[in-house]
Amino acid sequence: MASPVRHIAAPLNTLAIRRDFPVLQQDIGACPLVYFDNAASSQRPTAVLKAMDDFYQHDYANIHRGVHTLSQRATDAFEAARARVARFLGAQRAEEIIITKNATEAFNLLANSLGGLLQQGDEVLVSELEHHANLVPWQMAAQRYGLTLQKIPITETGTIDPDDVRRRLTSRTKIVAVAHVSNVMGTVVPIREISQLAHAAGAWMVVDGAQAAPRMAVNVAQLGADFYVVTGHKLYGPSGIGALYGRHDLLQKMPPWQGGGNMISEVFFDHSTWREPPFRFEAGTPPIAEAIGFAAALDYLSALSLDAVAAHEDMLLQKAEAMLRTMSSVRVLGAPPHRAGILSLVMDDIHAHDLGTILDQHGIAVRAGHHCAQPLMQRMGVPATLRVSFGLYNTPDEIDVLENALHDAKKIFGVA
Ligand code: ALA
Repeated sequence: MASPVRHIAAPLNTLAIRRDFPVLQQDIGACPLVYFDNAASSQRPTAVLKAMDDFYQHDYANIHRGVHTLSQRATDAFEAARARVARFLGAQRAEEIIITKNATEAFNLLANSLGGLLQQGDEVLVSELEHHANLVPWQMAAQRYGLTLQKIPITETGTIDPDDVRRRLTSRTKIVAVAHVSNVMGTVVPIREISQLAHAAGAWMVVDGAQAAPRMAVNVAQLGADFYVVTGHKLYGPSGIGALYGRHDLLQKMPPWQGGGNMISEVFFDHSTWREPPFRFEAGTPPIAEAIGFAAALDYLSALSLDAVAAHEDMLLQKAEAMLRTMSSVRVLGAPPHRAGILSLVMDDIHAHDLGTILDQHGIAVRAGHHCAQPLMQRMGVPATLRVSFGLYNTPDEIDVLENALHDAKKIFGVA
């Protein structure tokens, strides 16, 4: 079921929006491109391309180091981008935003740095629907620091039940790490309720917002997130950049996880001291032009309004779900009370990869596979799914193209 939330934002003008995305103006073979692979990576509007191009043409230099004009300009633009991310996520201050290269790097930072603050035997509670990025780093931290990894199973419908989380919290639970939106089923997880429970038990709340932030307005304070992770390439921005929001008082307690230039205060031959957060977590030259492009993407999204984007994706989901319900031999994974912009399906007797290949022949880009969520696949009893994930430029007509392509696949494989 798509979102039960009533959105009051004006509908998106998809026709105008599509003109902002040059990549969409092409055919794949003889068919217009239908881009339904937004959960893997979305596309970029010209505003992002232009912001990066302008920066490279006029202002590029390394940051935080130079006294010359270009370096000052680049530093100002980079720090303005950090402040832009902070506003986008509802952080209190720019210093709560660490620039990373992607979401995965943010989780590795947390697992190494935050994980190292824990005691042997402390527990990290991770849900069964996580992307590997919010699981594998915790497995590695558990081994390294002697922590115990505990699972929050999903319900029959494919969501997380806060009451179940409550039962699993113990005096040893120190971190609860959960996705805001499942990258496989689109489940919107009740983060606020889970955060309240985690905090009542004395644990920190880590939220994977990689799939939520492009699809709904996010406010880290309202969610009760102590840490919130996003990535640029799913937010209509460049690849190679992401961001980690962290509560300032917690970041101050955390040690760096990578050493090198920029993160130090003073270096002696046998030891060093660290800068304040966020800089102590940003060793080396960061993705500078990507930060400028990321900020431009957030400007673009915010100008459209995230509520309008959420309403648009809800409308697409409802149409897609209704279409798939009428189709024999097709099963949609999960039936969570609230789904956002993403769904996964399996078709009897056709492997998801074969289905994806046939869809490509209709110009439709989707992802087929385990979606870097193998424990979830094991729980659902499927090796792979076909994932359809929407973005702000998709149209209801494109769902008709999908329907036609699925019927074609059934014909080719002789599926009833
Ligand atoms: N994390 C991306 C996905 O879910 C790559 O497809």
